[in-house]
Amino acid sequence: MFETLQPAQPDKILALIGMYREDPRPDKIDLGVGVYKDEHGKTVIMRAVREAEQRLYQTQSTKTYLGLAGDVAFNAAMVTLVFGANADTKRIRACQAPGGSGALRILGELLAKVRPGATVWLSDPTWPNHVPMMKAAGLVTRDYPYFDPATGAVRFDAMMETLGAAKAGDIVLLHGCCHNPTGANLDREQWSALADLLVARGLFPFVDIAYQGFGDGLDEDAEGLRILAAKAPEMAVAASCSKNFSVYRDRVGAAMLMGRNETEANVAVGQLQSVTRGMYSMPPDHGAAAVRIILEDDALRADWLAELETMRLRMVSLREGLAEALRRQSNSDRYDFVAHHRGMFSRLGISPEEVERLRVEHGIYIVGDSRINVAGLPGDRLDYLAKAIVAVTS
Ligand code: LMR
Repeated sequence: MFETLQPAQPDKILALIGMYREDPRPDKIDLGVGVYKDEHGKTVIMRAVREAEQRLYQTQSTKTYLGLAGDVAFNAAMVTLVFGANADTKRIRACQAPGGSGALRILGELLAKVRPGATVWLSDPTWPNHVPMMKAAGLVTRDYPYFDPATGAVRFDAMMETLGAAKAGDIVLLHGCCHNPTGANLDREQWSALADLLVARGLFPFVDIAYQGFGDGLDEDAEGLRILAAKAPEMAVAASCSKNFSVYRDRVGAAMLMGRNETEANVAVGQLQSVTRGMYSMPPDHGAAAVRIILEDDALRADWLAELETMRLRMVSLREGLAEALRRQSNSDRYDFVAHHRGMFSRLGISPEEVERLRVEHGIYIVGDSRINVAGLPGDRLDYLAKAIVAVTS
């Protein structure tokens, strides 16, 4: 059976986890995989999650099946979290999913079922896993311009021009906030202009929101998506709780659909559940149940928000610190964009060879496209890091 298989190419992001672990250098720095770390380099369990898990342990009386949609109260809470308290919930339906990735894949499958071989437009660059995921779902992928490595800014005009020429019915995958891998994001006016274009051209918005609360704030980060929801007749959203609840391995996410009306939304979510039945049947419960307990309890929710805000502000301050250190060490403003970007990542714009030298010569691990995980920055060694970056690039 397996004799014809060739070895799989390791995933470029996940491969770094093993390489970093095996590196014996005590001063190594991990800026690879997108996992939040505190000032001690630890990915701790959030206080509210710990408490919710204890409540779950004490009160859960059965582990019988919940059904294809998973935890319906979790789904409702996620719709409010993402679409906001004033969302038109009659037209929005959600299905719990195994992480944001699971949500992306099942939504991709549903869209391919509706329109076999449809084109999905991805930002250039995008999270590398978007491409195989959408292709495996049966969609054709194409790129729209997004990032200008020379300035660190969004190429908004070029993006609009390309999408303006897309075919009616094409799907446009957008990062709701905290663009991965670049850290460069659309502002409110740009979201609004983009929404108008998508509506005018009959393009279907598909939003991946995996870092809500890591950019400018919980509601601020969903603003673009909410602008779209107010203008577009239909849309799909893949939301992840991996980062903002720090429940990575528990695989907590939600796939959401907004239909033109309640009937269409109900039919669409029913079809989405047929997709999950054919793939993995039902999502895992534990992490979603903990998130639901937090979102339904005022005190726990407030504590979660406070901790999330601490994490966000720490990333903003690390960004400013690194930009300053790079200015000092390089005597230039080449990397000032790091301070203006938002979210967990920034793309430094250095070559793959320079990235390799950082790893080999300095024990600094970043993704090959020069994406750094800002949350992994060592606050007390920013000049050391900036010096190494300048050394490999000069
Ligand atoms: C990342 O981009 O580093 C994370 O989303 C983890 C992953 O699965 O790639």
